[in-house]
Amino acid sequence: MIVAVDGPTASGKGTIARAIARHFGLPHLDTGLLYRAVGHQTRLNGGDPDSEADALAACDFPLALLDEPELRSELTGGLASRVSVHPAVRQELLDRQRTFAHQPGGAVLDGRDIGTVIVPEADAKLFVTADAAVRARRRFGEMQERDYPAELKEVEADIAARDERDRNRAQAPLRAADDAIVLDTSSLDRDDAIAEAIRLVERRITPRR
Ligand code: DC
Repeated sequence: MIVAVDGPTASGKGTIARAIARHFGLPHLDTGLLYRAVGHQTRLNGGDPDSEADALAACDFPLALLDEPELRSELTGGLASRVSVHPAVRQELLDRQRTFAHQPGGAVLDGRDIGTVIVPEADAKLFVTADAAVRARRRFGEMQERDYPAELKEVEADIAARDERDRNRAQAPLRAADDAIVLDTSSLDRDDAIAEAIRLVERRITPRR
């Protein structure tokens, strides 16, 4: 069984995808991490994330980079969003994602274009979303917990910029697949959002009688 979970930044899609994977005993791939690794490697190479050639050269990042804590930072998230607009970068990362999805038994992948481009044939597709203001507050709260200095206004502006870039890029823009189930988590807490996501996937994969 292949489950695709897409959605904007800080929507809760990663938490939900991990919980679905645990519930169904499936491996999980956070595809944003691949773009984050490319963004980070571009910087380590002294390259420009807005240059397609520099970003493409960073696609052969060492696998150990995926464990680097710096990949989770806001700075790297911004770099990831910038390198992800380049068609050559998306093409370079495509096979890795498809191979992961089609392993025996299936998998859960989360990202922006999983249900539309990477595995349009997925058995269940969720599009997880939430109001931008709610997402900014959640992200701000996480940063405060980690003692990461931040201003709510800056986090809001950063989320708005990421949304704008992810939704309006020419290739594989962020959008819900026509057959995706939209899950708005604006008024749900973490546990309720997870329970609802599992219920929706179960309903989608249970054959109707
Ligand atoms: O989910 P995330 O915040 O870790 O993703 C970081 C960036 O990577 C995001 O702003 C856009 C890009 N991305 C993408 O273009 N396609 C994906 N499948 C996953 C992430």
